[in-house]
Amino acid sequence: MLLCSLRFEYQTARKIDYSPHSTPSTMKVQCWAKVIMNQTIEKKHHDRPESRPLTGVDFAEESLRLAAEQLAADFGLGLVGENSSNFAAVLRLTQKHLELQIVRGDSTSRPLLIDFTGGAFRYRTLHGGAQMILKALGIKKSYRPTVIDVTGGMGRDSFLIASSGCRVSLYERNPVVAALLQDGLARAAAHPDTGETAKRIQLVFGDAVTALEEMARAGERTDIVYLDPMFPKRSKAAKVKKDLQTLQFLVGQNDDTEELFQRAMEVASRRVVVKRPRKAASITDLQPSHKIEGKTTRFDVYMIT
Ligand SMILES: C[S@@+](CC[C@H](N)C(=O)[O-])C[C@H]1O[C@@H](n2cnc3c(N)ncnc32)[C@H](O)[C@@H]1O
Repeated sequence: MLLCSLRFEYQTARKIDYSPHSTPSTMKVQCWAKVIMNQTIEKKHHDRPESRPLTGVDFAEESLRLAAEQLAADFGLGLVGENSSNFAAVLRLTQKHLELQIVRGDSTSRPLLIDFTGGAFRYRTLHGGAQMILKALGIKKSYRPTVIDVTGGMGRDSFLIASSGCRVSLYERNPVVAALLQDGLARAAAHPDTGETAKRIQLVFGDAVTALEEMARAGERTDIVYLDPMFPKRSKAAKVKKDLQTLQFLVGQNDDTEELFQRAMEVASRRVVVKRPRKAASITDLQPSHKIEGKTTRFDVYMIT
C-alpha cells in the first residue's frame, strides 16, 4: 500500500483533538501514515534539550525516502544516509511500521517498535491488566475523568487508561520515543480492536513541565495528572525488561521529577497519581493520600482537596 503524507490543517487538528487543554499554540505538523490516520500530534515547547544518544532516521526502501525525511524533520532528527556508524540508534521506517535499532559496534539490537494491537500487551488490556492503574485513578463506569499523562514512554499506561473510556493527553519529550509512539498509535487507530481506544489519546511531542506551567498560567485544569518518571537505576539482579532497558538508554534518568510533580499539583483538579517501583521512595516529601500496591509496582495517590 502506498504511504501517504497527510497534512492536518490547524482547524482539522482541533476537531479531532480530544486534549482537555489544546491551546492556540498548537502547530500543524505533517504526519505520515499508511492509512488515513485519526491521530494527530502537537509539537510543543521542545525547548528543554536533554542529552541523548545520536539517533538518525533510515528507510527500508527508496519509496519511503520522502516519508522518512518528513519524519526526521518533524522530530528534529537527521537522516542516517551513508554514515550509520556515527549513530548510536537508528529509527528505521518500513512499509509496516517504524522500528528502533540500537547500534553496538558492528551489530544492531533486535528492533523495538510500539505495538498496541497484539502480543502480551493486548492480552493484558483484554484480561484486566488495567485494574490497578484504573483503581489508582479512581476510574469507574460512571466516572471517566480527563487525564494528562506527562511521561509518555511506550504509551502503555496511557493506553490502559484510555481503554476505560477516558480521554488522555500523552506528553513525550524525547523525539525518538515520540516518533515511535506516533507510529504505534497510528497503527492502533487503524486496527478494529484498538481503534476506539487509540483515538482517545492525543499525543503531544514536547516538554510537560513547560506545558503544565502554561496551563497553570492560563487557569486551565485537568481532572488527573499521571506521572511515571524514569525508574531509578537497578542492580543487575533486578534488571528491567529489554524494551525498558532501551528506553533507559535513550532517555536516561528523570532530573525534573520534583518539578513535574509540583506543576502537576497546580493543574490537577481531582488527583495526581505517581507510579513507582514497589519499594522505591516517594518522589516528594508530601505524604500521599493513599497508595495502591502491586507485586512490583506502587501507585502513590495525591488527592486534591
Ligand atoms: C518510565 S517512562 C514512562 C513509561 C510509560 N508510563 C509507559 O507506560 O510506557 C518515562 C518517559 O517520560 C518521558 N518524560 C520524562 N520527563 C518528561 C517531561 N518533562 N516531559 C515529557 N516527557 C517526559 C521520558 O522521556 C520517558 O520516555
